[in-house]
Amino acid sequence: MLISINDLDRKQLFGIFDRAAEIKKNGFQKTLDGKIIACLFFEPSTRTKMSFETAVLRTGAQVLGFSPEHSSLKKGETLEDTIRMVSAYADLIVIRHSEEGAAARAAKASSVPVINAGDGKSEHPTQTLLDLFTIFEDNGSLEDFSITLAGDLKYSRTIHSMVYALNKFCRADVKLASPEALQLSGAFADILGSPKSTHSIQEGLDSDYFYMTRVQKERFPNPEDAHYEDDWILTGDLCRKHAKENTKIMHPLPRVNEIAVDVDDTKYQLYFEQAENGLYVRAALLEMMLL
Ligand code: CP
Repeated sequence: MLISINDLDRKQLFGIFDRAAEIKKNGFQKTLDGKIIACLFFEPSTRTKMSFETAVLRTGAQVLGFSPEHSSLKKGETLEDTIRMVSAYADLIVIRHSEEGAAARAAKASSVPVINAGDGKSEHPTQTLLDLFTIFEDNGSLEDFSITLAGDLKYSRTIHSMVYALNKFCRADVKLASPEALQLSGAFADILGSPKSTHSIQEGLDSDYFYMTRVQKERFPNPEDAHYEDDWILTGDLCRKHAKENTKIMHPLPRVNEIAVDVDDTKYQLYFEQAENGLYVRAALLEMMLL
């Protein structure tokens, strides 16, 4: 089961990195021929869903698709009963859900391995796997780097998994940068010790990695409050003025407008390769869990 990034140990993490790097370099093999993977996405997704599905197809397995709108959930079936049945059909379940704890509930009801592809504002462990893999490739290790976690630190599940991972797997100088209303909760800040903290986007840009996140509008009690003020939009100009020579901008994507498109063609941009790495990392993870 992969419900939290904390479910992995170092050996598994670096095993996934080795295999992901090999697939990235040499291409896919039909290692999962005959396997069936159920992708149960109760929430919208482009990258996570499609990279899992591509990884499944490229490794010779098959995807069992699912549409919540056309399932018996509409008749009132519980998540637990749904999962119990799907686990009789598939060899592994990937689940995304809007409720915190839904992936853990699914894991309890399932007779096959379950991967959490994002549960509410709780965690998004496979995002963190690809984030760490991207840093590992770029930096050469998970040690001796600085990173600013930026943007909506309150509701972002990618940030929550990243906090656990920074604590468990990395030796990094961590800084927090967010608008005041979107600060990291005390419990997560405690995990990081006493990280430096700022409400200025400029002051966060002096790290090796600036990890920006969108406002998680769907998790706001009042969605009308869900937007960044203009001084929280990252532009190419801000990067040139305040970033270091080697600063890399990361983002789990999708972005809305928090990173201006004029950052895309600068030397700072790392987010598109970061997203592509999700394909290799998820293929490596599926292999680890199924072989
Ligand atoms: N980063 C991420 O989870 O993207 P999707 O919502 O498109 O899957």
